[in-house]
Amino acid sequence: MRTPIIAGNWKMNKNPEETQAFLDGVKGKLPDSSKVQTVIAAPAIDLFTLVEGAKDQPLQTAAENCYFEDEGAFTGETSPKALKEMGLDYVVIGHSERRGYFHETDQDINKKAKAIFKNGLLPIICCGESLEQREAGQTNDWVASQVDAALAGLTAEQVKVSVIAYEPIWAIGTGKTATADQAQEVVAHIRKTVAKLYDEATADAVRILYGGSVKPSNVKELMGKEDIDGGLVGGASMDPESFIALANYQ
Ligand code: G3P
Repeated sequence: MRTPIIAGNWKMNKNPEETQAFLDGVKGKLPDSSKVQTVIAAPAIDLFTLVEGAKDQPLQTAAENCYFEDEGAFTGETSPKALKEMGLDYVVIGHSERRGYFHETDQDINKKAKAIFKNGLLPIICCGESLEQREAGQTNDWVASQVDAALAGLTAEQVKVSVIAYEPIWAIGTGKTATADQAQEVVAHIRKTVAKLYDEATADAVRILYGGSVKPSNVKELMGKEDIDGGLVGGASMDPESFIALANYQ
């Protein structure tokens, strides 16, 4: 059985003080991690506070990005090695905002995935189509190609513990959620893609999240779908009460 994940992605929001206030706000109110695993992905500047504050609650931590080298002359980048040393659990890679605004390629994302595993962290790999691609009927092929490229060279054991997040670009921050059926269809296709690339056992184990305007009012319906193992939540993850409601959707 796959343990559900409710993951927040704060994007470029919150400072360390606001991070602390969030941690104080959710304390004692998050579900046991054997029932629902909760994760917060925060900006690099907040990660120290996040890791410290997550130590005494059932909350895992993620960086929103990293580089694929461990150290060196890469001004402004964050090292996966240092993230591991700091106590992080996950790194989000391939978010559509990074692909779009910062020109991150499938090849970069694959290098990052490998660097993440090399350093003992786990990736949350994002994929998703634009509105034009959806309207042109290209969603499944596009998303499968992103997943194929991101996973290239990873072992089945690594893929089993990876997390994939399907986030249709047109549903991000727009209030426009994909219907639960639309999300299920693409998530199921991603699972089939993993089965083709690896095997059924790997496809059964990998957790696949949906992201795009997930909120307390729609999380239950999305989570009721067979292949959807969780949510990657932007806007609705920033307020403690909202995150608590999402995490306790059961
Ligand atoms: O990574 C989460 C995300 O892009 C969705 O954002 O604000 O639509 O929940 P939002």
